Amino acid sequence: MITVVGSINMDLVVRANRFPKQGETALGDLYTTIPGGKGANQAVAAARLGEAVQMIGAVGTDAFGDELLKGLASENIDIGMVKRVDGTSGIANILLSEGDNRIIVVPGANHAIEAHELEALESKLSASDIVILQLELPIPVVQKTLEICHKHNVPTILNPAPADAYTKELLPYATYLTPNETEAEEIFGAGWEQSIEQYPNRLIVTLGKKGARYFDGRKHVLVEGFETQAIDTTGAGDTFNGAFAVALVENMPFEEAVRYANAAASLSVEKFGAQGGMPFRQEVLERMGDDKK
Ligand code: RIB
Ligand code: NA
Repeated sequence: MITVVGSINMDLVVRANRFPKQGETALGDLYTTIPGGKGANQAVAAARLGEAVQMIGAVGTDAFGDELLKGLASENIDIGMVKRVDGTSGIANILLSEGDNRIIVVPGANHAIEAHELEALESKLSASDIVILQLELPIPVVQKTLEICHKHNVPTILNPAPADAYTKELLPYATYLTPNETEAEEIFGAGWEQSIEQYPNRLIVTLGKKGARYFDGRKHVLVEGFETQAIDTTGAGDTFNGAFAVALVENMPFEEAVRYANAAASLSVEKFGAQGGMPFRQEVLERMGDDKK
């Protein structure tokens, strides 16, 4: 069982052919609402790849809350531990332009979870094969979850996004840390390439289409990404994390697990929306095979 302790957001996506300058109004060509949130995205990625997934999180009593719960349930994710709290669900204001995105998250219900609630779920956490977390829930919740898992020897993946919420007290308790390049720089400073040597086979830095890198105890390993046509890179990191969890649960060798996660992420960017394009197992295997020359 994979447990995701994380955020559930409705993504309010607006697309324009360029980013507006400060104080400027620009005309967009698309607006849509689509389920997202780093936690929910990672849960969906793992579930599509065939693992049993349960989610711990919160949505509001608004209409988005209904839609978000329905969406998770339709992906075969156990939502029994997603609570409903008075007020609005988390939302992410996503601006797509110039082949990239800019995101503002308003946590809403996601921040209504408290650390003591995780204590009450200790048996659920300890019975998990792996637990995935990000930083869109209150940090004491993340900290408490990591501590409980650490105590029970349950491996954890901490995706430190958004990085400005990161504190270094979290790292000793997390089994794996998966920042992207920007987050790695924010957390470890400009010399992050050297810092990863202190965390062999634990710190995996994702590099977008270039793949991902880590230090294996003797040498730096770059696991190359897969060639793809990106339509929307929102949620690519989430797909990486969900797929990486699946690969670890299935005992793939470390480098192969990173490659599997790269393949899944490369497929996810080919369709619009964070969860759009998140692949099923067969698609990932095909992509990995495709690349074997
Ligand atoms: O990682 C992408 C996600 O970040 C979006 O779905 C948005 O909800 C924000 O949480
Ligand atoms: Na996508």
